[in-house]
Amino acid sequence: MKQAEKSFQKDTTLKSRSGIVSWESPANIALVKYWGKKPGQLPWNPSLSLTLSKSVTLMNVEYNYTGFHEDIHAGFEFSGDNKNPAFGERVIKYVEAIKNYLPMMAYYDFKIRSFNNFPHSSGISSSASAFSALALCFTEIEQASYKDNVVLDEAFYKKASFLARLGSGSACRSMYGGLVLWGHTEWIEGSSDEYALKLCEGISPVIDSIHDTILLIDRSVKPILSSAGHALMDTNPYSVVRYRQAEKHLKDLITAIKKGDLDSFFNLIEIEAFELHAMLLTSFPGYILLKPGTLRIIEMVRNERLKGLPIGFTIDAGANIHLLYPADSSEQVFSFIRNELPEFHDSDIITDHVGKGPVKVTL
Ligand code: PMV
Repeated sequence: MKQAEKSFQKDTTLKSRSGIVSWESPANIALVKYWGKKPGQLPWNPSLSLTLSKSVTLMNVEYNYTGFHEDIHAGFEFSGDNKNPAFGERVIKYVEAIKNYLPMMAYYDFKIRSFNNFPHSSGISSSASAFSALALCFTEIEQASYKDNVVLDEAFYKKASFLARLGSGSACRSMYGGLVLWGHTEWIEGSSDEYALKLCEGISPVIDSIHDTILLIDRSVKPILSSAGHALMDTNPYSVVRYRQAEKHLKDLITAIKKGDLDSFFNLIEIEAFELHAMLLTSFPGYILLKPGTLRIIEMVRNERLKGLPIGFTIDAGANIHLLYPADSSEQVFSFIRNELPEFHDSDIITDHVGKGPVKVTL
């Protein structure tokens, strides 16, 4: 008999034999980037992100008790027009992998359905929203299997963040709203490589309510997946310097965030985006995800800032650009986009802002 079966049977009998759970989880945008990882999906450097509000994945997991089986029984379906078979395979592999942490999974059949309201696998952290939503569903199913009532407490979210990390590192940060840190750093108590930590204290309101308008320069699926990009950091000659820089930027950025110092905030998030893309360029083989359109907008944003508009940008591993600015500059930013970037239609623009984190959906 497998260890999983033994421990499960010893613990308790199943409380709930079938049901459906649903979570909606947001994407996040990294301000200090995670790029490069150790075995076990552990980061080489701490990263910091802002959880978004409107760019979400809705995940439903239906579970039915079928008795113990060695293999995981799970099917995956994408709803809507964002279908992506490769991602479906990744989800199934993930479900198999987390069985080690959730022995009850060996007793159920699962049907997973996912819906994204923004483009998938194109550098807008769709894997973060998807895997955080999925991890929340499985954490809830585990609780429902052992307890009469599911309790959404600190331990629940910590476990869900841990599980989400195993699907996609950045997913562990989507577990909380606002500013979220992932990765151990000596000077932040409670920080861990295994799960994320919400940063609460002393954040200036100007940062807490920041807006993120994403300009979709390229919607195509990334030619090189981030897992391959992370792996290239193992041989990148600049990786050690990069990890050190990320630590330094984190410290400086948190100081800027506490002071509400937007100039430093913009300079730091921009250097983080540049260093991420510098790592792609200096990997072997090197590659470029930025497009001419991205470079043009970088230049325009910096010019606008020089003219007095409080706006900065960041970019993940893709070509799309995130414009960050304080809530009260929205109108000016939109007239800048309308006047200077008329080629961007409403459907090429995602308007988002800092959000409160995942939401349990009652069906
Ligand atoms: O979580 P992954 O493996 O998809 O990597 C995410 C990497 C970046 O989005 C580029 C940076 C980050 O910290 O989110």
